[in-house]
Amino acid sequence: MIDLIKIRAQLPHRRIEWHESIDSTMTVAAQLIKDGAPAGTIVGAERQTAGIGRHGHSWHSPTGTGLYVSIILNGFRASANSPLIMLALGLAVRQAVAEVTDLVPDIRWPNDLMLRDKKCAGILAQAEGPFIIAGIGINVLQREFPPEIDASATSLRLCGAFPIAREPVFIALVNAVDEYCQMSGEKISDEFLRTSSYAYGRRVQVDLDGHTLAGTTQGLDPSGFLIVQDDNGQRTTILSGGVRALEIGMKEI
Ligand code: BTN
Repeated sequence: MIDLIKIRAQLPHRRIEWHESIDSTMTVAAQLIKDGAPAGTIVGAERQTAGIGRHGHSWHSPTGTGLYVSIILNGFRASANSPLIMLALGLAVRQAVAEVTDLVPDIRWPNDLMLRDKKCAGILAQAEGPFIIAGIGINVLQREFPPEIDASATSLRLCGAFPIAREPVFIALVNAVDEYCQMSGEKISDEFLRTSSYAYGRRVQVDLDGHTLAGTTQGLDPSGFLIVQDDNGQRTTILSGGVRALEIGMKEI
């Protein structure tokens, strides 16, 4: 079990609910909002039996190895569909990981945290009443992954962060989310453009409704959507994820 005494000592004014095993921290956080929980409330779990990922995927949530956290956001006024909030949360996780390890994850637009071209953390945002719930999963201590995600998933430990514990990652994460959720859209976009190798000049393949677009990234539009230019010079604004790196020599499908 995570050391809640250590965590509460560093985050004394936060309401933190920690569960041994629940379906998803998102559903518990949504219920807490309905029951009147204030912004800033955090729900975490040792294990999720039905962890929710983006695009209808599930989130692998084995006991005691990852951080599975939902935060009821304080102060972020944009809608849950705005990519700026997704970018802000990605930057926050990147900063938290960089602060407590010597690893600096890349961010695949909008907010997949990547180490060695594999995903080490994933984020989703969901509107609930007047609030947005940020759902953050960070693979911290995993030594292995099930075969179906082994090629695409990694953990901080597998990337060399050892020894490592979940508590400092959690504390850094909460502080970084607070910081980035107060930032202006302009600052968020600027920092994303500076830090993500996916922002500009990256050859990518994007799954769109019913077809695949191959092209080169060309930065963000003012709302934080990704712009991709195909080989005929046609520019498309990407409205949701499904972006994958296409390395030179890789077959486009
Ligand atoms: C993604 O697919 O990249 C997003 C994954 C988000 C997973 C986290 S784990 C904590 C929170 N509870 C969930 O059920 N999902 C999010």
